[in-house]
Amino acid sequence: MHESLKDKVVLVTGSGGGIGRSIAQRFASQGSKLVVNDVSQETVDEVVALIEADGGTAMGAIADVSSSEQVGAMMDAVMAEHGRVDVVVNNAGLVSPMLHFFEADEAWWRRIIDVNLTGHFIVSHPAARIMAKQGGGCIVNMSSGGATRAHRAFTAYDATKGGIEALTRAMALDLGPYNIRVNALMPGSIDTSGLDLDDRKLRGENVPLGRIGEPIDMTGAALFLASDDASYITGDVIKVDGGMLAQQRSATVDIKPPSEFPAVEEL
Ligand SMILES: NC(=O)c1ccc[n+]([C@@H]2O[C@H](COP(=O)([O-])OP(=O)(O)OC[C@H]3O[C@@H](n4cnc5c(N)ncnc54)[C@H](O)[C@@H]3O)[C@@H](O)[C@H]2O)c1
Repeated sequence: MHESLKDKVVLVTGSGGGIGRSIAQRFASQGSKLVVNDVSQETVDEVVALIEADGGTAMGAIADVSSSEQVGAMMDAVMAEHGRVDVVVNNAGLVSPMLHFFEADEAWWRRIIDVNLTGHFIVSHPAARIMAKQGGGCIVNMSSGGATRAHRAFTAYDATKGGIEALTRAMALDLGPYNIRVNALMPGSIDTSGLDLDDRKLRGENVPLGRIGEPIDMTGAALFLASDDASYITGDVIKVDGGMLAQQRSATVDIKPPSEFPAVEEL
């Protein structure tokens, strides 16, 4: 338990599904008051109901993070309900459609930049003002391994994630004097789309810890960054990737598959 998260007002964008949902549920389990944001009423209602069924506190907030009008209305609703915002997790992001550079067009590029990168700014801007006035707060942005090592057919996505890491450092400098810490999480390969067993195995073989990540794997680092345990950490990016970014090539290419590594009984 992170005692410091109890009663904190925590907004998680894009928490209708995937990683955001798991992070929202985990904050709620610490006694935080959740604001569940997404573009779909159905998924928001579902997550609010799940949190409440577990004895937690949550309100739903429909808003497209790329719209400053919609985000402004969401912030007004949060302030009307709670009168403060302690933590923002900028999780909302568009992963697809994947397009080869030559298949891509400007509309594709602009939409992904608008949601993934500009969305971080649009949500953080009013939230940080509120945090500054109340004496502090914490922002957790959502990067990707693509910020450091690129994916094929992800030019816009990877550009947003590189931008998010730079934004994280720049915001940390501007907001530090207001007692607002800004950090980022860098997920590796997390199964948020219900991959079949073959796909999970294939992806897991490329991960030093030997398995694909689950949304719950992201939650410990999110809670830590938002808690008082991280009170002297800002402008940082925490990798939660099972060691993916630590490796240059897969085990099979380097030497042999992990299943052929020395058996424990032989040690
Ligand atoms: N899953 C992974 O392996 C992985 C890896 C690296 C980074 N990430 C990042 O983690 C975050 C969550 O990814 P996920 O895998 O859970 O994806 P997901 O698609 O399962 O969840 C993203 C959520 O964001 C919502 N969303 C999309 N556009 C929105 C908008 N304009 N406004 C508000 N909400 C919006 C979606 O409706 C969805 O519920 C993203 O930022 C993604 O880039 C994921």
